[in-house]
Amino acid sequence: MLKKNMVKIILDVSMAVTFVLLMNPRVFNGLPFHEVAGLVIGVAVLVHIALNYKWVVNTTKKIFDRSLSGKTRFSFLLNVLLLLSMSGIIVTGILISKVVFPHLLSGENHALREIHDVFSKLTLLLVGVHIALHWQWIMGVFRKMFKTKEGNWNKKVIVTSVLILALFVGSMQWLATNVKVDEAFKPKFEQKVAQASGTFTPPGKFREREFPHKEHHGNSHPLLVILGHFTFWAVVIVPVYYIEKRMRHKRQVRV
Ligand code: HEM
Ligand code: HEM
Repeated sequence: MLKKNMVKIILDVSMAVTFVLLMNPRVFNGLPFHEVAGLVIGVAVLVHIALNYKWVVNTTKKIFDRSLSGKTRFSFLLNVLLLLSMSGIIVTGILISKVVFPHLLSGENHALREIHDVFSKLTLLLVGVHIALHWQWIMGVFRKMFKTKEGNWNKKVIVTSVLILALFVGSMQWLATNVKVDEAFKPKFEQKVAQASGTFTPPGKFREREFPHKEHHGNSHPLLVILGHFTFWAVVIVPVYYIEKRMRHKRQVRV
């Protein structure tokens, strides 16, 4: 049981970090990372659902049953919405792709890109609520990992975790400064501008010209992108977690 929970938590944390890195397509200097990681997260979500297969089957069978709790019903609806909006991101992503599927649609499709953007923001919000509803489980798994049966801190696990975190931060910093994108991977428009002017056009400038109202990606340093979006999730998780906790207490009092 514990092993399965370890697999689950590692997958969940990796999905959360990868997802927020995808919220800025300029992370790691461009689209190759964005598109490949976007497709990989699609597969990861399928594995995530497979790991919860029993819940999915049991809840689907009982969905019209009166005995099903309001929370489970709400989770079910949320999970359906999550699946739809995540699929929406990936399908529109594939259609506007410039690296992995460059020949699907020729030229820029602003409407599809806008839909891709709206689906991403909606999914970010839904995942925040989804994490909040599992906050107790997440804390429980971490508690079991970091504490011994006698209730003391497990020093080995703490040292290993700090090392893994340091390695992660270091490699993000290294990748952010050292990954340079191949000219062939740059969006066509950017290449044209660079060729015409004979100079290198930084990605920000190119974006300003193409979408004057859309220079909103801010800093694309991966650590800042992670921090920014995790802060947004914290703002969602705290109220949802406490509202759910109050409702749980009320239910228990009634019973
Ligand atoms: C970054 C994205 C996501 C994160 C961090 C995340 C996190 C979690 C966590 C922590 C759990 C409880 C433990 C577990 O079983 O792993 C869970 C359960 C679940 N997740 Fe996700 N999830 C994500 C995306 C999705 C998506 C897109 C779906 C699509 C349907 C989904 C469907 C489910 C289902 C069906 C369950 C089990 C039932 C439940 O209790 O809600 N998750 N998720
Ligand atoms: C969970 C997965 C994904 C998320 C959260 C995500 C998120 C985003 C966001 C927020 C943008 C910026 C939109 C804008 O500026 O209007 C974007 C742009 C883009 N995305 Fe995704 N995306 C994902 C998956 C994919 C996939 C799978 C592909 C292709 C295979 C893709 C291809 C693109 C392209 C081509 C752009 C336009 C970038 C440019 O022209 O500079 N995305 N994505």
